[in-house]
Amino acid sequence: MSVQSWRITPAKRVRGVWRPPGDKSITHRAVILGLLARGATEIEGFLESDDCLRTLRMAQQLGAQAERVGAAHWRIIGRGGQPLQEPSDTLDAGNSGTTARLMAGVLASQPIFSVLTGDESLRRRPMRRVVEPLRRMGAHIDGREDATRLPLAIRGGELRGIPYLTPVASAQVKSCLLLAGLNAAGVTEVTEPCLSRDHTERMLQAFGASLEQQMSASGAHRVRLRGEQPLEGQRLTVPGDFSSAAFWIAAALLLPGAELTIEHVGVNPTRTGMLEALAQAGVHLEWSAVSEQAGEPTATLHVRPQPMGAMQIGGALVPSLIDEVPILTLLATQAHGITEIRDAAELRVKESDRIETIAAELCKMGAQVEPLPDGLRVQGPTPLHGAEVHSHGDHRIAMTLAIAGLIARSGETLIHDVACVQTSFPEFEALLETLVER
Ligand code: S3P
Repeated sequence: MSVQSWRITPAKRVRGVWRPPGDKSITHRAVILGLLARGATEIEGFLESDDCLRTLRMAQQLGAQAERVGAAHWRIIGRGGQPLQEPSDTLDAGNSGTTARLMAGVLASQPIFSVLTGDESLRRRPMRRVVEPLRRMGAHIDGREDATRLPLAIRGGELRGIPYLTPVASAQVKSCLLLAGLNAAGVTEVTEPCLSRDHTERMLQAFGASLEQQMSASGAHRVRLRGEQPLEGQRLTVPGDFSSAAFWIAAALLLPGAELTIEHVGVNPTRTGMLEALAQAGVHLEWSAVSEQAGEPTATLHVRPQPMGAMQIGGALVPSLIDEVPILTLLATQAHGITEIRDAAELRVKESDRIETIAAELCKMGAQVEPLPDGLRVQGPTPLHGAEVHSHGDHRIAMTLAIAGLIARSGETLIHDVACVQTSFPEFEALLETLVER
């Protein structure tokens, strides 16, 4: 059981060879495609975090059989084209936006009635972005505030594919519509202003579906999927989560004498925008052992401390580092110059309003971070000191503050409300001991 708060003292360095836990986005998708596919799907490197276990439980409520074969190793027997089982109770996505939005697409396309809900934070997050296009595909969805917030009541079935232009580049919206389209008549076509993480596209193909993709000269991305395609169960190993590795990349860049090797981490380019931002700052990580599994590239990264300049982050780069903005903000507090992050208003509707929460909490530790309507401005370098801070129930804020506590020049950092870290990275707390030298 994780404690409710952490006390973090400054570290001397981080050191070690470490394999990060499985990727959260990819684990969710493996479970969902495993639920829909024919036969067994065997998933190694499964991220056994609260969010992914919510998706797994939901798949079981919908008729999948799931068995834990070993640590981080699950076998799922899917429905294989049979309709999903109508759940006898509400489906609870907990804190997980990915579970809620991707499953909304699956549920809307099945001839069953279901009620989808989540925790207090998730019930505040916007659902119009999936409900509106699903309704256009023919779905019957009701819910709070004209179905723009959970809980949603979904009477699914009989969808038809549509062409849809998403106003924001969101992998959750794109994936929701592709999953709905998989069981719809005709073709579903999703165009996004720039490419968001493409794990769903890669995994659908690994499970035997065919789809077409196009990038326009302006950077818009279009994916077309024909409905009623069968999926075949697969055996796959989930790469390590780059977004979890990012916290320790930052620690190793900022602590003198650090030496960290991160093995088997996912380096899908739609996820590694942080490396591009770091390159702007003059920081280059060494790579080795590049390979590919189920369409997803992995590598070993070698990280040592390096001096950093400022970064200018915006435009098409943003979706590929959206979850890394809190930790990039911390890095920017130690970089020479003024960093600006723009075009990132989506941060306001994550697990917390990350623009406000990261700025407020890092300022308590001596940073100079200014919230902007669509991003952040950071003046660096500023020495940080320990302080009493709050996660706002947001796992990525909690972990960023823990790394901030490690790199602080002096004093203890007391971080309240850290249980949320279980949603994505249950092992994080133990690493504060095993990777850190004091
Ligand atoms: C995710 C997509 C992103 C990301 C989230 C996971 C996914 O959200 O922030 O942590 O697995 O599809 P959006 O689709 O809302 O950008």
